[in-house]
Amino acid sequence: MADYENLLVETHDAVTLVRLNRPQALNALDTATLRDLIAAFAAYDADAGQRCLVLTGSEKAFAAGADIKEMADQGFAAMYDSNFFGGYEQVTATRKPWIAAVSGYALGGGCELAMMADFIIAADSAKFGQPEIKLGVTPGMGGSQRLARLIGRAKAMEMCLTGRMMDAAEAERSGLAARVVPAADLVAEALKTAATIAGMGPLAAMATKEMVHAADEMGLAQGIRFERRLFHGLFGSEDQKEGMAAFVAKRPANWTGR
Ligand code: CAA
Repeated sequence: MADYENLLVETHDAVTLVRLNRPQALNALDTATLRDLIAAFAAYDADAGQRCLVLTGSEKAFAAGADIKEMADQGFAAMYDSNFFGGYEQVTATRKPWIAAVSGYALGGGCELAMMADFIIAADSAKFGQPEIKLGVTPGMGGSQRLARLIGRAKAMEMCLTGRMMDAAEAERSGLAARVVPAADLVAEALKTAATIAGMGPLAAMATKEMVHAADEMGLAQGIRFERRLFHGLFGSEDQKEGMAAFVAKRPANWTGR
């Protein structure tokens, strides 16, 4: 397995577990961490044996934001020229499913990275926030857009304008987190959920992810047509034949991803 500067990567059967590991900075997301994330997600996507991924941090912090110390002295020309944060589009380009398992602080870029996941499982200790306004800036890794889509404009606007933190219960109630679990069980619960997803046909899982995300981009009629075409397309797969035959024969399906 590749060596990463700020990540620890393990595999648990068909599930990849990626831990942000920069404890001295509460997992603040610097350029080296982004480089690691791009490489780790690309390796996961390319590995046919891996079918779901869990991204987590430490108990205290999923990630306390983009690295403020790295950004503090930057000017417009350098930020624009390097397309700063643009590399996260390589993370969101991951075609296979992944879950963010969030304990402690998920602030600024940390909250934004969690929202890039297909869904979030939160520990009861999780605290989400977009405090960039307190630094004289705004979200820059998609927070204003993803938060508004996930929890609605009123709450998104309130959080981005005040920088207040949202606890796990409110995050679940508002649609930011799919589920809240006791902090001590977070990684085990996320791995269990990931193993469930990893046990599904990989083509159907990838198509599901693609169509649900399309709901952010498309109008209803176009989105429904897109869903139906992907659904039709799966009838060209061996997994569809296998899945339906297994149901009829009352046996587990043996997916090949073909
Ligand atoms: N960037 C760089 N370093 C950070 C950091 C960040 N986002 N967050 C924490 N750290 C560092 C601290 O500077 C500190 O380092 P030193 O020991 O060298 O001083 C170390 O991590 C531990 O942090 P604290 O001592 O502050 O820990 P705490 O428990 O007292 O407070 C906290 C925790 C409330 C999360 C606090 O660290 C904090 O407010 N962090 C910044 C949160 C923030 O503003 N995030 C948004 C960043 S901007 C952004 O993300 C832009 C974007 O849209 C992508």
